[in-house]
Amino acid sequence: MFETCFIPRHVLVAGGCGFIGSNLVRYIVREHPDVAVTVLDKLTYAGNPENLSGIPGENLRLVVGDICDAELVGRLVAEADAVVNCAAETHNDNSINDPTPFLDSNVRGTFTLIDACRLRGVRYHHVSTDEVYGELTLDDPHRFNEDDPYRPSSPYSSTKAASDLLVRAWARTYGLKATISGCSNNYGPYQHVEKFIPRQITSLIDGERPKLYGDGRNVRDWIHVDDHSSAVWGILTLGRLGETYLVGAGSERNNLSVLREILSAFGRAEDDFDWVRDRPGHDRRYAIDASKLIRELGWKPVHVDFSAGLFDTIEWYRSNEGWWRVAKRETEARYAAMGF
Ligand code: NAD
Ligand code: TYD
Repeated sequence: MFETCFIPRHVLVAGGCGFIGSNLVRYIVREHPDVAVTVLDKLTYAGNPENLSGIPGENLRLVVGDICDAELVGRLVAEADAVVNCAAETHNDNSINDPTPFLDSNVRGTFTLIDACRLRGVRYHHVSTDEVYGELTLDDPHRFNEDDPYRPSSPYSSTKAASDLLVRAWARTYGLKATISGCSNNYGPYQHVEKFIPRQITSLIDGERPKLYGDGRNVRDWIHVDDHSSAVWGILTLGRLGETYLVGAGSERNNLSVLREILSAFGRAEDDFDWVRDRPGHDRRYAIDASKLIRELGWKPVHVDFSAGLFDTIEWYRSNEGWWRVAKRETEARYAAMGF
């Protein structure tokens, strides 16, 4: 464990009305109630202020705005002593259909935030993804580590890779006080219904058949969103400046096996789903070696039982239909228009 410990007093969470951002805000307010939190969020189709509902409000403020707005970003960064960037366009299928907003929010937005942090000497943490490393084959004994080369496959992952490189360059050239986390696939409450697990759960609640891409053998390394939050906080407060830390909980599953677990929780037959055409450029497998984070910062995932976490997530979507109903309709219409 490193001895230097940075405890921020006021964190600006960009994208705090999205899935990971809102869970991170909930985590900070619960675990560190003295820390003030400002959320900056554009409220795109993926951002929902209701994601912050129920969080005690004394130390929490929502500002609706764009991370590409340099004037607004400059003002908010000046009030904070740390910025965590969770704001991004995040869905691979959307990026294939229209990459433009991914370039704007993920690349230009990151540039705007880091330049504001550089000018004001504010600590910056960049929330990124394992997808920047491309794909592994199913039988490769290797798992991604921080020294692997960047080989992104999709418009989404290539813009995330570009944003990581901007952060690294700003750290090296300007001394930006920055860290990066590269996390595997998250699951848990408040995830948008366009993503794999919530899409299948909500389709089953509606009595519809889930949709599986390709041959269903693509592997993802699942982590509960609360474990991602604790990792981000650990890296922000204890991480070495200029470093990247990969985050994963060692829970590789193929999509077919995850889907069968969900089907079984609904009492549906294991073949009660539709095979649909594959995603172009679909990465085969992601797998994370999180030993640097565990060794250096003493981080440990708490939700190590994926089946239990999946069950709780299913219960959350069953109990919160009002939260997802409108987004479900819009999302399925969008999928139909895109031909997925
Ligand atoms: P999300 O799509 O649920 O939320 C993104 C949020 O960012 C939304 O609230 C949206 O309104 C906001 N936003 C988008 N563009 C913005 C802009 N220009 N200005 C201000 N706000 C903007 O995404 P998520 O799943 O919470 O992902 C957050 C971050 O975590 C992303 O950087 C993503 O790459 C990374 N990540 C996600 C996962 C995962 O499994 N979801 C895994 C690893 C890393
Ligand atoms: P997704 O949640 O989009 O995350 P990512 O592409 O970032 O990994 O998809 C997870 C996996 O599930 C991916 O292999 C694609 C697959 N998938 C389906 O089989 N059916 C679906 O309806 C969706 C949305 C995804």
